[in-house]
Amino acid sequence: MTSNIAFMGGVKSLKDVDVTGKRVLIRVDFNVPMDAHFNISDDRRIRAALPTINYCIDHNACSITLVTHLGRPKGEYEARYSLRHIQKRLERLLQKRVEFIEDFEASKEEIAACSLERVFLLENIRFHKGEKANDPEFARKLAGICDIYVNDAFGTSHRKHASTYGVAEYVGTSVAGFLMMREIEAFAKALENPIRPIALVVGGAKVSTKITLLGSVMPKIDKLIIGGAMSNTFLYALGYEMHASLFEAEFVETAREVLDAARRHGVKVYLPVDVVITDSVEKPVDVKVVPAQDVMEGFSAVDIGPATVKLFSEAIELSNTIIWNGPMGLYEVDRFAKGTYKLATAIADSYAYTIVGGGDTADAVERAGEQEHFSFISTGGGASLELLEGKVLPGFERLDRRA
Ligand code: 3PG
Repeated sequence: MTSNIAFMGGVKSLKDVDVTGKRVLIRVDFNVPMDAHFNISDDRRIRAALPTINYCIDHNACSITLVTHLGRPKGEYEARYSLRHIQKRLERLLQKRVEFIEDFEASKEEIAACSLERVFLLENIRFHKGEKANDPEFARKLAGICDIYVNDAFGTSHRKHASTYGVAEYVGTSVAGFLMMREIEAFAKALENPIRPIALVVGGAKVSTKITLLGSVMPKIDKLIIGGAMSNTFLYALGYEMHASLFEAEFVETAREVLDAARRHGVKVYLPVDVVITDSVEKPVDVKVVPAQDVMEGFSAVDIGPATVKLFSEAIELSNTIIWNGPMGLYEVDRFAKGTYKLATAIADSYAYTIVGGGDTADAVERAGEQEHFSFISTGGGASLELLEGKVLPGFERLDRRA
């Protein structure tokens, strides 16, 4: 039986087609973090797409149109999510002028004009209601501005949207970009004939999206290490009071099911035995380490404690493949970053094949100064977890296949 990864690895890539003189539409994932003043705090996802864009420029594509979303607007214009905030950084990284397109339909002729080396950036594709709804009419319109569709948005490849999935139905040639192929190769190494034991380390605040996936990854892993806000939900499910900590009470049943699934599949689960708690996240005065079952009223757990770091590090040391998705606490605040950084170092120091997935985790690894010591840093968070679940990601599903 072909695995999901083998199926996805069988798609055609940009190298399999001739882009010369063609209008190429590249779906990228430039959903990058920005501060309140729209400074991009991590441009890794933009940099990761440069090989694909540069290849099209170097091979004389007629025009290159970049399509991406930014944030989660509700199908209409919202200034804070405009891609104008990204245009300058893209120009700087590409060292080339990038023309901004507000309305791609109105600019159809300009895109088709075929003056070599023109790069266009479309306004946030999620300003159109048809994008998330994967509206066929909208997908057809997008297809109408290109001859070749290239999907290089690995981070969004788990979404069945018009620009990641629907559009491929209406374009004659649809292939994967180099980032998509690199990601699949890296995950193939971890998941096809993996060197066991495999440890999955999960954390982060996006509990609701991740927790529901955990039950189905059990057949693939040997150890499940849970920290961050994710572990707060599990500790609460075990009957511990988490008080002001970030946790999702409505996912308590799911957490129990995950623990049951782990038991059934013989997966060893590691949860924090101690946590760092604070009286305030914004203005911490009283910060201390307590056993996980002793979080005090009015306090929130914001990091894993030193005993947990030791426990998790030992589990990591004895693993041969490690996939990490989600920080161990509020690492953005220096005072609460220790657990995440120490874990980054423990994973980096291991002799395992190591993959980091998700923007926050990749950022934490970089802040810890360990990015050179990981085998692969993925641009996908949710996408990489769905890969682990054994799914064929929609972003690959409709691409042309190699014979
Ligand atoms: C991400 O940041 O995970 C991707 O860009 C997908 O974004 P989404 O979760 O809003 O679809």
